[in-house]
Amino acid sequence: MADLAKICTGIKGFDSLFDGGILEGSTVLVEGMPGAGKTTLGMEFIYRGIKDYGDPGLIITFEQFPETLYRDALSLGWDLQALEKENKLRVICTSPEVVLFPESNFLEQVVKETAAKRVLVDSISHFYQVVHHSLKLRRSFYSFCNCLHRLRLTSFLVKELEQDKENLHSFEEFLVDIVVRLHYEARDGLKRQRTIEVIKSRGQFHLSGRHSFQIKKGGTQVFPFSYLPDIPCGISKECIPTGINGFDFLLRNGLPQGTTVLVAGETGTGKSVLGLEYLVKGAQLYQDKGLYVSLEEPPERILMMAAAFSYDLEALIKEGNIQVMFRPFLNTHPDELWIELTDKIKEYGIKRLVIDPLPALISRIGDLYVLRERIYYLTAYLNNLGCTSFLLYSLDNNGNDRQFGIVQSVVQGSVILKYSWFQNRRQRQLEIHKLRGGGHITGNHMF
Ligand SMILES: Nc1ncnc2c1ncn2[C@@H]1O[C@H](COP(=O)(O)OP(=O)(O)OP(=O)(O)O)[C@@H](O)[C@H]1O
Ligand SMILES: [Mg+2]
Repeated sequence: MADLAKICTGIKGFDSLFDGGILEGSTVLVEGMPGAGKTTLGMEFIYRGIKDYGDPGLIITFEQFPETLYRDALSLGWDLQALEKENKLRVICTSPEVVLFPESNFLEQVVKETAAKRVLVDSISHFYQVVHHSLKLRRSFYSFCNCLHRLRLTSFLVKELEQDKENLHSFEEFLVDIVVRLHYEARDGLKRQRTIEVIKSRGQFHLSGRHSFQIKKGGTQVFPFSYLPDIPCGISKECIPTGINGFDFLLRNGLPQGTTVLVAGETGTGKSVLGLEYLVKGAQLYQDKGLYVSLEEPPERILMMAAAFSYDLEALIKEGNIQVMFRPFLNTHPDELWIELTDKIKEYGIKRLVIDPLPALISRIGDLYVLRERIYYLTAYLNNLGCTSFLLYSLDNNGNDRQFGIVQSVVQGSVILKYSWFQNRRQRQLEIHKLRGGGHITGNHMF
């Protein structure tokens, strides 16, 4: 039997949840609480279909007048009215009976007229108003789905959820091919987080789990968290000298390429300076491209820090040898950053990476198991990309940071920076705690 054809929705990152696209002719249930982004996702499915794949589209709404839909779409950058004028789209506001009851032949008629390939129905929750008996409703919905299949439409069916309960499932979920849930989760003291989860997909693979997504001008972007299978797995035997005086001696020449090193220490112990020097020396001595990801300090501060050590960071940035990426942690979700990072590393051939500081990013990951998984994936990515990285970690001084233990156990190397007192003066010391796949000199060393 020939493989069933897949179609790309065109929604950024969404297709990756399904290994490239959804099966043509699928019925996709998009459910979520108010404001979860259901309509936006559905409109984009139709819009991208027309714009990028030449699929004529159909939008059927019950309560929302076309005018408000046009307005909302325009705010995202999509001129639906222009597409209607070109006969590529039809927006219909009607009553649920017309669509649900087969006698009306409504869908057949419209599809005949428009040659639509994609349809959005917003929302099927209105079907509850016209059929009150649950068994009858189920039968009607089943016939409706069959009709969509018969007309070879790939459809997004929006369903309103009053409660976002993990184990609460409606009959519609059993009848459609794909179920996608959009969550808009509240988090103590922080902005709500949008996540998307595929609950089922008949006859095809999907990435499980809740993946973060954003809505902004231009549409929806999903950040699927997955292991990139296309990167050859294998550990390089190359050794990367850090270029930092004395440090390479302790490392017995350098770090195995692709190693992720946790550089931890209390505030002021010199983590950022060490990270910066690692990139500067890499660029100056070995022509390695470097990326400094700052989650707290704006680029101006990093430049000031560099100037204090007489590093001409500005020149290195101008020449494209070092990039400074400032992502204020309050607005940055770890999964989004991981994906942006790996794309950047591949695009620019980044060999050295510094993340400063890691806790700013991971402190919002409440579940320690999830944290272990995320750090494991990150280090595996970086390892496979051959990008040797420093994750800077600010330690609190009471030692009850449970995340630290997990990160330290997952990464391949860890270096602790600390203070000690010598003749009434603070002295900085450095200790290499562990280094997988590389020998090193143990003990505390002044720096
Ligand atoms: N132009 C835009 N720029 C940025 N964000 C936007 C824009 N348009 C919509 N949004 C975001 O999307 C959210 C609404 O999305 P949408 O209307 O798709 O939700 P919905 O799930 O369909 O809600 P409802 O259940 O009320 O129909 C808004 O609350 C807003 O946060
Ligand atoms: Mg809506």
